[in-house]
Amino acid sequence: MTHPAVIDELMTLVDPGKVLTDAASLEAYGKDWTKHFPPAPSAIVLPKTIEQVQAIVRWANANKVALVPSGGRTGLSAGAVAANGEVVVAFDYMNQILGFNNFDRTVICQPGVITRQLQAFAEEQGLYYPVDFASSGSSQIGGNIGTNAGGIKVIRYGMTRNWVAGLKVVTGKGELLELNKDLIKNATGYDLRQLFIGAEGTLGFVVEATMRLDRTPRNLTAMVLGTPDFDSIMPVLHAFQGKLDLTAFEFFSDKGLAKIMGRGDVPAPFETACPFYALLEFEASTEEVANQALATFEHCVEQGWVLDGVMSQSETQLKNLWKLREYLSETISHWTPYKNDISVTVSKVPAFLRDIDAIVAEHYPDYEVVWYGHIGDGNLHLNILKPEHMGKDEFFASCAKVNKWVFEIVQRYNGSISAEHGVGMTKRDYLGYSRSAEEIACMKAIKAVFDPNGIMNPGKIFAPE
Ligand code: MLT
Ligand code: ZN
Repeated sequence: MTHPAVIDELMTLVDPGKVLTDAASLEAYGKDWTKHFPPAPSAIVLPKTIEQVQAIVRWANANKVALVPSGGRTGLSAGAVAANGEVVVAFDYMNQILGFNNFDRTVICQPGVITRQLQAFAEEQGLYYPVDFASSGSSQIGGNIGTNAGGIKVIRYGMTRNWVAGLKVVTGKGELLELNKDLIKNATGYDLRQLFIGAEGTLGFVVEATMRLDRTPRNLTAMVLGTPDFDSIMPVLHAFQGKLDLTAFEFFSDKGLAKIMGRGDVPAPFETACPFYALLEFEASTEEVANQALATFEHCVEQGWVLDGVMSQSETQLKNLWKLREYLSETISHWTPYKNDISVTVSKVPAFLRDIDAIVAEHYPDYEVVWYGHIGDGNLHLNILKPEHMGKDEFFASCAKVNKWVFEIVQRYNGSISAEHGVGMTKRDYLGYSRSAEEIACMKAIKAVFDPNGIMNPGKIFAPE
């Protein structure tokens, strides 16, 4: 733990009352949504300015204190967990939108701006911030950039990376770097901005970001389709992609739907029970587009790929259909799931899922398994639910035993062990299944450039040596 005299010095660097050491704050700020590692930070510091962040980093270097960045704490890979006496740097007081350029369609955000705050701001300007996910009411832009957050609209809009025009970062040495100057075209060598996106705070902290906005989509319309088996989802995706520009293509299993129905506050999409469901969304900008969607639906039924379906006719119906997918993560959190966030190229998904499913059925026969995800991006979420009677540690340990086999399949399919949740601490021991030894050596060398003393979020992405 950090010595009390060192914490006293930290207090002189920020506004009065902005260093917290009470038990409740240590517990709350020391963790994210994962439950694998008990939080144990030394202190929480809440800077208000870039200069204060720089001072904190210099203090940490001088005193060999490890820092952990903390945003909305909605992470799912323990990337923002302080389990080893670190000092947590939380960006709650750097939460302002600092500027808007209507011509460039850019917004300057402090790192603590909540995703939904940016979405609402964009809406006020008649524009759209397209990166979206269930935790957008709590997650912060700094954290989204740190994890290169994905979500439910990636098939059309890409990941957070696509929307970052420029960044200001404080490196592990305490330097302030201004990266890319918000330019669209900038062919001046290495794009350091991209290194900091998805770096999970291991190189430095994002202290300001210029985010791009897009035009508002027209008349978003969703369909939920029930399929007789998993394999049928892929020709459905192919058929719809051939006819429409999809803004989303998600899937979930019957077990996922059952959990949502168990809540009692979301209407069922239709009566027919199906093993799998696809949720797709498109802009029904003209009647012709809506008719095309219906014709494609009929084609899918004729082919036997779809058993039943529904198309939203109003904003309320659209929202209700999305609840079937968006409420899944929060709903199943009741069962302390062991989460996997794996991806392959879309064409490989059916064979990949079949192989993973066989391993899961063999090794987790007694556990309930809920599949859902962003199938249009090749991203599958495999959630193993903890039996009520079993202790958390015993359950996580038994799930971890199967990782080797799951990740061997991921490796065989040239996939990723983390598609969008990040590596953090929960996946760091498995990085070698997605990255070669040479790549990992390069990544570590890059870290050493920006963070020579190893104080920035140590133990995340890479296992401690
Ligand atoms: C989602 O797709 O719902 C999120 O990635 C969260 C989760 O996987 O639970
Ligand atoms: Zn997801």
